[in-house]
Amino acid sequence: MNGQQRAVVTVTLNPSLDRTLGVDELIPGEVNRASQVWLDAGGKGINVSRGLNQHGIPTVAVFPVGGADGRTLIAELADFALPVHPVQIDGATRSNVTLVDAKGSTTKINEPGPQLSEAELDAILDAVKSELPTAAWVVVAGSLPEGVPEAFLTRLAALAAGRGASYALDTSGAPLKAAVAAGGLAVVKPNTEELAELVGRELTTVGDVEAAAREVLSAGNEAVLVSLGSHGALLVTVAGMWWAGGDPLVPLSTVGAGDATLSGWLAADGAPSPERLRTAVAWGRAAVLLPGTEMPRPEHIDQAAVRMVADPDPSLTLKEL
Ligand SMILES: Nc1ncnc2c1ncn2[C@@H]1O[C@H](COP(=O)(O)OP(=O)(O)OP(=O)(O)O)[C@@H](O)[C@H]1O
Ligand SMILES: [Mg+2]
Repeated sequence: MNGQQRAVVTVTLNPSLDRTLGVDELIPGEVNRASQVWLDAGGKGINVSRGLNQHGIPTVAVFPVGGADGRTLIAELADFALPVHPVQIDGATRSNVTLVDAKGSTTKINEPGPQLSEAELDAILDAVKSELPTAAWVVVAGSLPEGVPEAFLTRLAALAAGRGASYALDTSGAPLKAAVAAGGLAVVKPNTEELAELVGRELTTVGDVEAAAREVLSAGNEAVLVSLGSHGALLVTVAGMWWAGGDPLVPLSTVGAGDATLSGWLAADGAPSPERLRTAVAWGRAAVLLPGTEMPRPEHIDQAAVRMVADPDPSLTLKEL
């Protein structure tokens, strides 16, 4: 992992205390009894930090917390010995609920999350700022709570740039669009749907993805790492395009695979682009073989199982990869 010493600061603006309830059969409109309950710290930036931390790469997770679930979230993270920098807010940390029945069918109910006041947003910026002297990267991952101005991401980008830290983004919708347009992103990690929404058209072939990624690059961004689920990932930079993937896997849980992918990319900081892509895909593949949002550890990573292709044929459909 190239002896990287400077830390990766992750920012999760809308973390959650994830509750998974096991029920035999889910009957809407009736009283259902849970046979099992699991609590997990949820949030994409937090997942990225957890992945890096498990590989001994310095990282700290910045996120707002409030209420009883916020306290439980921090307690859950203590089990991972993850360096955290929580920012206290007035609102209550949200809880996303997943109902899983005996057949494995899942129903998800996600809360919107607390609104963040201007002072609270400033406090989050201050928290990031205080971590910057030792930071190589600022990584913003996950959704923005309602009401957070899109310009907040640009302020974070400016903060990172001012201290010589690279900026990575994994979000979707309007905030992604605004941040891409503002430029200065060292890497963006959309999945196919997020990239399609960003450019406003369907992406069927490798050439479609490349054209969309080149639009992102032309706004002044350095690399687009497009994850394609079971079809691996495409990396597009001004220097070229690479695909990496491997034999089909039988996933245990694909939740958080994209976060593991971004972690792997960051872990391979300093390596040539194709090697970074290989590591990113190896981490993503490892994540789907682990339960829930468990992040891979070094023993789970199989770099040799990842196939790499430079300049993949643009006429191939993504499904053919
Ligand atoms: N079914 C699968 N089989 C093999 N590899 C997979 C599968 N699903 C995901 N992956 C691996 O994980 C990576 C990331 O997956 P995906 O594109 O689904 O991310 P994502 O949609 O951003 O996920 P999330 O945001 O939920 O973490 C892929 O690039 C691939 O390497
Ligand atoms: Mg994702």
